[in-house]
Amino acid sequence: MNFLQFDTEQSWINNVAALWRDRLRANPRLVMCLPSGNTPNAIYAEMGRSVANGLVSFRKAEIFALDDFGGLAQDDPGRCRNMLQRFLLDHVDLPRERFHFIDTEANNLDRVCREYNELIAARGGFDLTLLGIGLNGHLGLNEPGSAIDCMTRRVEMHESTIKASAGYVTHSNLPTWGVGVGLKHLLGSREVWLLANGAKKAEIIHRAVTCPISNDLPASLLRKHLNSFLLTEAAAGSRVSAMVQQAHS
Ligand code: PGA
Repeated sequence: MNFLQFDTEQSWINNVAALWRDRLRANPRLVMCLPSGNTPNAIYAEMGRSVANGLVSFRKAEIFALDDFGGLAQDDPGRCRNMLQRFLLDHVDLPRERFHFIDTEANNLDRVCREYNELIAARGGFDLTLLGIGLNGHLGLNEPGSAIDCMTRRVEMHESTIKASAGYVTHSNLPTWGVGVGLKHLLGSREVWLLANGAKKAEIIHRAVTCPISNDLPASLLRKHLNSFLLTEAAAGSRVSAMVQQAHS
C-alpha cells in the first residue's frame, strides 16, 4: 500500500480530486465503486466543480454504490444511494442509467445481491474503488471478521457502525443491517484508495498499517493490494507519518 499524506484538508481534497480527474481522463469508461459517509463529500464537491469547469466528465463512466442500509425509507437522506445522489451525482454528468445501487428493500434480497455481483463481474470488476474507514477498521459493510472472498450480501452491522450511522440520518431509528459489496470485489479492484481525514481516524489508520494483515481489521487487507493508496490529510495520517519519520531518523 502506498501512503500519501497532504498537509491540509484542502490540499487533500484538491490532490485526491486531481488524481481522480487523471484516472477519468486516462479511462473515460472508468468503472468505480464509491462510498457514502462524511469522508468523501468534500472531494465529491470538488469533482462537481471540475465537471462544471469542463475539466473532466463522468459521461462514459459507471458508478456502483458500495453499500446501503436496510430498514430505512427509500427516500431516507442517510441511505448510501441518496447520499451519493446528493453529494456527487447531482453535480456531475453521469447518465442516470450508469449509476448502480442496492435496493435493500426488495422482496428477494438474495436475488438483488446475486444480480449486483453479476453486474460487477460483467464489467470486469472495478477499475477504481474509493473507501472510507470505520472506527473498527471496516471497509464499507465488511465488518471485522468478514471472509476475504465474500461477495455482495446482507450484513448485520457492528455496534460502532450502528452508532456511526446516527451521523447520516435525521431520526433515532438507526439501521442495524445493510447490504454491502464484499471484500472479493473490493480487493479485486484494479486500484483502491483508502481515504481518511480528521484526528479521530488517526488511531485506526495507524492500526490498519501496523497490525498483522488479517480480516480482524479489514482495512489492513489493503496492504496486500499492489495498487492501493492510503490518502490522508495531516491529522488522520499523524500517527503513521510520525512512525515513518522515526524510521528515517
Ligand atoms: P465516515 O464513515 O466517512 O462517515 O467517517 C466511514 C466508514 O464508516 O466507512
